[in-house]
Amino acid sequence: MSEQKRIPQHVAIIMDGNGRWAELRGKDRSEGHAAGIEPVRASLRAAVRNGVRYLTLYAFSTENWGRPAAEVDALMELFCQCVANEAPELIRQGVRVCMIGDRSRFSEKVRSALESIEKQTADGKVLTLILALNYSSRSEITRAVQQIARRVAAGELAPEAITEQTLSESLDTAPWPDPDLIVRTSGEQRLSNFLLWQASYAELWFPEVLWPDFTERDFDRALEEYARRDRRFGLVKDK
Ligand code: FPP
Repeated sequence: MSEQKRIPQHVAIIMDGNGRWAELRGKDRSEGHAAGIEPVRASLRAAVRNGVRYLTLYAFSTENWGRPAAEVDALMELFCQCVANEAPELIRQGVRVCMIGDRSRFSEKVRSALESIEKQTADGKVLTLILALNYSSRSEITRAVQQIARRVAAGELAPEAITEQTLSESLDTAPWPDPDLIVRTSGEQRLSNFLLWQASYAELWFPEVLWPDFTERDFDRALEEYARRDRRFGLVKDK
């Protein structure tokens, strides 16, 4: 953490309120998702400008498959278009795109769009954008435990040697630090299966703004809110 400047190293966002934004305007829910792209761009600009190193966005949960097929299809199309259209700007800004979640359930078209953006942006050094797609924390932890169990069964790992670090290193998020700040828009105050293990010491902020209305200024506000928080990690305050 860059504690001196009080800038969070890693910000994670639950982009909520697209459906309500659309319904308030008599539009289709898919139009709300499409309107959610500009706030992604704004958040990236603000994150880069402030020196945030990692930005995780919850774009599609494992539960989202249960939405109407037309909405799921529109979201898949949006992901494909978005990663294709945004590639040049992401490269220009030095953004590296990575993914967490179980991508095996996506169609070949979506998988190859995601692989393509990961490859094209692999040299980005300014900020890592982590897209949580077909992600849920319980599913991620379950997959991690299965992987650890396989190592134990193969005699590579003793049960007593399993530590918190073993689990952290087996999660999709292993390469990156835990989030310092988690933001959920639209006023809902819950984590909804997002980064439950990694959120142990994260600061949480729940602004009322619906995601399509979220601006660069709102991202700055999140950082201002974070800077006011007193992070003690279970210790006592420095004298
Ligand atoms: C939650 O709002 C939002 C989603 C399920 C989709 C989020 C996706 C985007 C904003 C597109 C971004 C794309 C990329 C590639 C990062 P909701 O539909 O649950 O809103 P509601 O609670 O008001 O119904």
